[in-house]
Amino acid sequence: MKTFEEFIVPWVMNSEPYSAKHMDIAWENPEIIRMMSNENLVPPSKKVVEAITKASLQGNLYPGSGPELRKKLGEKAGLTGENVVLGNGSTDVINFVIATFVAPGDEVIIPDPTFSMYKSRVLINGGIPVIIPTHSEYTFDVQNMIKAITEKTKLIFLCSPNNPTGTLMREHHLIEILEQGVPVFYDEAYYELQDEVITRAGLIKRYPNLVVNRTFSKAYGLAGFRLGYVLCDERLANYFNRVKIPWNVSLPTIAAALAQLEDEADLEYKRKVVIEGRKYIQEEINKLPGIYAYPSQGNFVLIDAGILYKTALELRDLMVEKGIFIRPMSGAHIGKGFFRVTVGQMEENRKFIEAFSELVEEINKYKK
Ligand SMILES: Cc1ncc(COP(=O)(O)O)c(C=O)c1O
Repeated sequence: MKTFEEFIVPWVMNSEPYSAKHMDIAWENPEIIRMMSNENLVPPSKKVVEAITKASLQGNLYPGSGPELRKKLGEKAGLTGENVVLGNGSTDVINFVIATFVAPGDEVIIPDPTFSMYKSRVLINGGIPVIIPTHSEYTFDVQNMIKAITEKTKLIFLCSPNNPTGTLMREHHLIEILEQGVPVFYDEAYYELQDEVITRAGLIKRYPNLVVNRTFSKAYGLAGFRLGYVLCDERLANYFNRVKIPWNVSLPTIAAALAQLEDEADLEYKRKVVIEGRKYIQEEINKLPGIYAYPSQGNFVLIDAGILYKTALELRDLMVEKGIFIRPMSGAHIGKGFFRVTVGQMEENRKFIEAFSELVEEINKYKK
């Protein structure tokens, strides 16, 4: 008799799972400050909590496709509700967009470093990730991305501000890629947190191959409720609607998002917390000799602590001992001793700077 493993499709069998273990560890250790997953450390507003509580009274009923929410999101981007498809977080969006374009054996161009979810969902869907290293200062290598396009290329991933580097993409570079005609997934998960809020959603009318991703997990701070959305040509939206699972966004989540969108003051406050916090972290880190904080436009800062001669995993463990979770960065195109820290509220940022400065001192003392 065959084992059940022999029935599993090869691309699922051979793919590495995206590990969410760090999240479970964080939930088991609530006393350790969560600065590892680019969450917003400001809790949801009272208005959002009230809206969720009210919606939960109708929790016996299936949600719809969120037409009121889609209309508001579309109009905010100069489009309509027909240009919006909601996802259970933008991770769900990433998955249904890949499933729409990519068949087993098809190629998907992905820069590196970037959000690791793109590669793992491409693999799970049977696609072949074609990895293009960024330039040394972490801007995308547009020319090499274009050169990598073949008959088999079905999708290109871009992210601006890019996770984990915080880098922005120039409009003319995006246009150069869009001109190739291949579908482009342009991830604006952090766009509301830029010093100057820039979006490329306006290009959708000119380039129907552009798919813009957004999320409520970052600036709005609703990661636990899971809401992402895609802005795209309405014909494309119809195909995404075929692929996505119906009722993928819950009734309380739709209510939370509607309440959140009404509350502009709350977004302004959260933006201010992140913008001031990242400036503080960057400035303080760059005061430490030999350690470098990359400029960032997201709610995170990429830090090169290679000079400490510790691996990123060792640095993570040492910081956990000091009460803070950070995210070790490793991979083919990222240096040894790099990590990413999420910008929190000022109190958390100060604790991070204090703990990390202390660690640097301890390591340097030992080295002498
Ligand atoms: C670039 C990028 N896109 C999407 C996501 C996923 O967000 P969501 O919570 O909407 O699934 C993240 C999360 O860290 C991210 O960094």
